[in-house]
Amino acid sequence: MRNRSRYLSLLLALAIPLALSLPGAAALADGLKNLQVLPKSTSKDEVKQIMKAQAKALDVECDFCHDVPDMASDKNPKKLTARQMMRMTAEINQHWLKGMKDAEKNKVTCVTCHRGKEIPDAR
Ligand code: HEC
Ligand code: HEC
Repeated sequence: MRNRSRYLSLLLALAIPLALSLPGAAALADGLKNLQVLPKSTSKDEVKQIMKAQAKALDVECDFCHDVPDMASDKNPKKLTARQMMRMTAEINQHWLKGMKDAEKNKVTCVTCHRGKEIPDAR
């Protein structure tokens, strides 16, 4: 019995640091459940920062995209659109703008198109 609990505590001592060092550990440790576009290693604080910026870019509240308080839920179709927008924005920067003069400084963000509107002005 004593041996067994020693074995268990040894196992825990080894397993916890290992789990925390694996990719995705930050999101897991923070209780995030459904990141499909952001890297799984994004911390909850980082996700909140990104989310605040997205909300501000469209001048909306969190519930515009989320089925609050369940932030992991994909029930709200706007969240699925927002995922596409995140992929599109990343691809513009990583693929299409790559190597252009001042591409880093002039990175495209949600604001570039939305400028505080749910749907960007066509002109
Ligand atoms: C324009 C749409 C939009 C707005 C507004 C928005 N979010 Fe999100 N949020 C998303 C998308 C899309 C994801 C999923 C990202 C992914 O798949 O990597 C997400 C994911 C999250 C997650 C991770 C949930 C999990 O467990 O996977 C949290 C937490 C979150 N948002 C919080 C917020 C908060 C707080 C606000 C308000 C300040 C907010 N969001 C506003 C679109 C939005
Ligand atoms: C290149 C320009 C562009 C960028 C960058 C962009 N969007 Fe969009 N977004 C659009 C256009 C155009 C529409 C309207 C699509 C349509 O016809 O329904 C739209 C629509 C949306 C909608 C649906 C709004 C509604 O009321 O149905 C959401 C949500 C959204 N964008 C979120 C984002 C987020 C979040 C980002 C940054 C990650 C982003 N967008 C970046 C152009 C852009």
